[in-house]
Amino acid sequence: MQIRERTILLTDGVEIPRVGYGTSKVKGDQAHSAISTALETGYRLIDTAELYQNESELGHILTNSGIDREELFLTSKVWNNHQGYDQTRQALDESLNRLGTDYLDLYLIHWPCPDTDRYVDTWRALITARAEGLVTSIGTSNFQPEHMQRLADETGVMPVLNQVELHPYFNQPFLRTWHLENGVATQSWGPLGQRAGTLLNEEVITTAAKAHGTTPGQVVLRWHLQRDCLVIPKSVNADRIKANFDLYDFELSEAEMHAIDKLDTGERQGGSPYEVH
Ligand SMILES: NC(=O)c1ccc[n+]([C@@H]2O[C@H](COP(=O)([O-])OP(=O)(O)OC[C@H]3O[C@@H](n4cnc5c(N)ncnc54)[C@H](OP(=O)(O)O)[C@@H]3O)[C@@H](O)[C@H]2O)c1
Repeated sequence: MQIRERTILLTDGVEIPRVGYGTSKVKGDQAHSAISTALETGYRLIDTAELYQNESELGHILTNSGIDREELFLTSKVWNNHQGYDQTRQALDESLNRLGTDYLDLYLIHWPCPDTDRYVDTWRALITARAEGLVTSIGTSNFQPEHMQRLADETGVMPVLNQVELHPYFNQPFLRTWHLENGVATQSWGPLGQRAGTLLNEEVITTAAKAHGTTPGQVVLRWHLQRDCLVIPKSVNADRIKANFDLYDFELSEAEMHAIDKLDTGERQGGSPYEVH
C-alpha cells in the first residue's frame, strides 16, 4: 500500500499529520533535547496531556523554537478528575496557559470513566470550546464504540478521532472497523507496544526490517500507517526519534502485513476503558 500524503483529513476538514511525537514521560532534563530533536527532524504534531505534567516545559520549548504556531499541531487531553462541564473548561484554560498558546489543534477526553458518567457533560464543554475557537478539533481517547455513539446520540457530534492503545500485539480490528464506518480517525498510542516484551524481536518484524533495510521499530510504525492508523511514538533517543519519523521510503508487502497482523494477542498492555478512573 503506497502512502502519498503525510497528513490525512479529519471529518471536520482539519489536516492532521500521520506521525506525531508522544511526550508521555518526556520531562525534566531530557525534554529540551528530545523535543528540540523532534522539531528539527520535522515532527509538527506534539501529543501531550494534563497528566504528563510537561505542558509548561513544552510551551517554553515550542515558544522558543522559532516555528510558527500555525505550523504546529498541538494535542492535549483533559484528565479524569477534571471531567464535567465547568471543570473541563477550567482544565482547558489551564492547559492553554501552561502551553503558552491561545488554542489547541486537538483536545481529547483522556478516558471515558463510565463509572463516574461525566463524559457527556465533558464532551459538551469541548463542543463549546470548539465553537469559541479555543480548540480546532475535538476527540476522545480510550473510548469504546458505545461511549462514542452515546456522545453522538446525545450531542449530535461524533469525535473526529479516538486515540487508543494499538500495536501488533493488540491490534483492535473491531474498533478500527467501527472507526472507519463512523468517520473516526484511529490514532495509536503505545504504537511500539511501549517496547513491550519481545515485539521488536519478533521474527516477522526483524525479517521485514532486514528485507527493507530499516529498523524493527520502523517496520512496526509503517504497519500502523498501512492499516490507516496515525502514530505518536515516544522516544528520548535522537537516533530513534529520527528513525520513527522516517517511514515513507519503504512499503510492507501484503504478506508481511498479514504476518504482523497474526501477532495479535487480544490483550492490552495498558488499562481498560472500563477500569481506569
Ligand atoms: N491516551 C492515552 O491513554 C495514552 C496512553 C499512553 C501513551 N499515550 C501517548 O502515546 C505516546 C506513545 O506511547 P508510549 O510512550 O506509551 O509507548 P511507545 O511509543 O509505544 O514506546 C515508547 C518506548 O519505546 C522506546 N522506543 C521508541 N522508539 C523506539 C524504536 N524505534 N526502537 C526501539 N525502542 C523504541 C522508547 O524508549 P526511548 O525513549 O529510550 O527511545 C520507550 O521506552 C505517549 O508518549 C503519549 O503521548 C497516550
